[in-house]
Amino acid sequence: MKFFLLGFMGTGKSHWGKSWSAQYQLDFFDLDHEVEKMEGLSVAGIFEKLGEPYFREKERNILHSFAKKDNFILSCGGGTPCFYDNMEWMNSHGITIFISTPVPVLKERLILEKSHRPLIQALTDEALEEFIRRKLKEREKYYGQAAIILQSESISHTTFAEIIKRYV
Ligand code: S3P
Repeated sequence: MKFFLLGFMGTGKSHWGKSWSAQYQLDFFDLDHEVEKMEGLSVAGIFEKLGEPYFREKERNILHSFAKKDNFILSCGGGTPCFYDNMEWMNSHGITIFISTPVPVLKERLILEKSHRPLIQALTDEALEEFIRRKLKEREKYYGQAAIILQSESISHTTFAEIIKRYV
């Protein structure tokens, strides 16, 4: 089974992806790390030197390479579902799980983690909140296509067991 974890930056995709994959002996991958490995550059470095369109193309290509793998959880970048036909592709290849997180929670987390995230690096704390609201609005039509939508406050260690029981 292929599971794609989706959500805005700071949502906790990697945290839950690692925890759930360990419980179920699934492989865990982080799409940003896969792009970084392939390019030999950090995501911030790719945005700066080669631009966002270049990053999005590599992101899509590496996402598609997961067609050949199985039994994994892939933590996607916050923007992954919103470019090319990525959302449709993920829905046709596996189970998409979107983690929805309230704006104030995202803001608190992202204030502490701005530096390696190129889209928010240069924003003040006030501008960050406005950016999160605007981007979430733009992205809701993609995130809303996920097969499973979870509220971050109600996720626990048993959530994935319930998903497996219900969907697999
Ligand atoms: C992005 C999210 C980042 C990374 C890049 C762009 C976005 O991933 O892919 O900085 O467009 O929301 P995380 O969600 O893992 O931080």
